Amino acid sequence: MVKKWILFFSFFGPFQFYQLAMAVSPEDIVKYRQGILFGMGWNVGAMGSMVKGDVPFDRDKFIFFAERTAALTPMVLEGFQPETKDVESYTKQKTWENLRDFEKRMSQLLEETEKLVDVAKTGGESEVKKQFGKTAQQCKGCHDNYKKKS
Ligand code: HEC
Repeated sequence: MVKKWILFFSFFGPFQFYQLAMAVSPEDIVKYRQGILFGMGWNVGAMGSMVKGDVPFDRDKFIFFAERTAALTPMVLEGFQPETKDVESYTKQKTWENLRDFEKRMSQLLEETEKLVDVAKTGGESEVKKQFGKTAQQCKGCHDNYKKKS
C-alpha cells in the first residue's frame, strides 16, 4: 500500500495525480482539506490521550484510530491545489513554492502511520507509544514549516 503510493508520487509528480476531476470552488477545496485534517487531528488526539495516560491504553481502540488516520492521510493532498493560494487559511504562502517537499512529508507521514497500524497490532505498549511519537513528529515537522500558528 505504502509502496504503491510512493510509486505514484515518483511517477506522476505533483499536480497530475491530484488534479480534481470536478468543478469546485477554491473555498470548498480549502474546506475539504481542513475537514480531512481536522479528522486526522481527531483520531491522533484520541491516540495521544492513551499515550499520555489520560485514558487507559486499549489496543483495539488504538488500532481503530490508527487505521482511520492511515485512511485519511492520502486524502489530504488533493485539497492542496495551487488555485487555493489566495483563499484565507492557515497554510503559509511558501507552501506553494515547496509542493514537492510538502508532498514528500505527507508520504513520510503515511509511511509512519502505516507502521503505526502494524505496531499497534503486533507490538508491545511501549513500542506503540514510540511509533506514535514518530508519527506525531511528522505532523509537527510539517506544521512548523507550512502551517501558520492558529
Ligand atoms: C505535509 C504537511 C502536513 C502534515 C504532514 C500534517 N499537516 Fe496538519 N496541517 C497542515 C497545514 C498546511 C494546515 C493548515 C491547513 C489550512 O488551513 O489551509 C494543517 C492544519 C491542520 C489542522 C487544523 C485543521 C482545521 O482547519 O481545523 C489539524 C487539526 C491538523 N493539521 C492535524 C494534523 C495531524 C494530526 C497530522 C499528523 C497525523 C498533520 N496535521 C500532519 C500541514 C500538514
